[in-house]
Formats: sequence, structure tokens, C-alpha cells
Amino acid sequence: MTPFGIRKKLKSLLNPDGGRSEIVRHTITLLLPDGSEKVLTTEEHYSILMAADANGITISTGRRAGGTCPDGHCGLCRLEVLDQTGLSAMKSGEKDSLEDHAAGRPHEGRPREPGPPLTPNTRLGCHAKVLGSGARIQVPALFTMEDIKGAEG
Ligand code: FES
Repeated sequence: MTPFGIRKKLKSLLNPDGGRSEIVRHTITLLLPDGSEKVLTTEEHYSILMAADANGITISTGRRAGGTCPDGHCGLCRLEVLDQTGLSAMKSGEKDSLEDHAAGRPHEGRPREPGPPLTPNTRLGCHAKVLGSGARIQVPALFTMEDIKGAEG
């Protein structure tokens, strides 16, 4: 086998589709607190929180300056899903976190921050992943960096 043939073989082993893989994108609609709607195009497998953040919409204070919290249990990224088309199914970690909220259990040794009441349509933005187009999601609140940092002084 020539050096070119070896290189070609290695490339095919490392990248079976020959480098033709494409990023799959889907659209979701966020209904914002001011009544406006924002249609987002996002990469497949992004969480709703990541999709919103990539479009300049901060939907959680989280514990990491607007991003997801370290353990996915703070519950600050609660959303109301009006149409769950294309979203991942709820897994046990998300379900446990919502149940902890409903039961008023503390998080990281602190009482949980109040938020909108939980409903059967409540999802956590950092857990629910976009697997297809069509979801419609009510965002109860938006945050700014000032909200996240808190009042200084
Ligand atoms: S950011 Fe903490 S549960 Fe989603």
C-alpha cells in the first residue's frame, strides 16, 4: 500500500462517513415573558437552555453565570412546555429534581429559590434536549448578568 493509500485508509477508519457528516439543526419556539415569540434554530442534542443561551436568551440564573448548574438540580431553569414535539423524554434525574422542588427539599444545603408552581408540563431547560423541530416552550422569566451577579456594594 502506498503512503497515499495508508493515509486514505486511516482517514476512512477515523471518519467512516468520509467527513460528510453534517450538523443537524432543528427549530423550537420560545414564548417570552413579554408575550413575544422567538423561533430558534439549534443543533440537535442541545438542551433548551443551551439553545436559548446560544441565541442570547438567558433563561436560568443557574449556578454558573447563566449556564447550567453543576449538578442539574437547582431547578432555576424551569419552563412550561406547551408542545413537546421533538423534545427528549424526561429522565430520572430531571424527574427527581422536580420532585425535590415539589417536596420543598433543600438544594446544596439551602432552601430552594421560589419559582412558578410546577405543572405536568414543567421541564428543566438544562435537561430537556432538542431532538427534532416543533416544540413550543413558555419561558417564565429572563435574566440579565446583573440579576445573576446580584447587587454590588
Ligand atoms: S440550571 Fe440547574 S437544574 Fe437546570
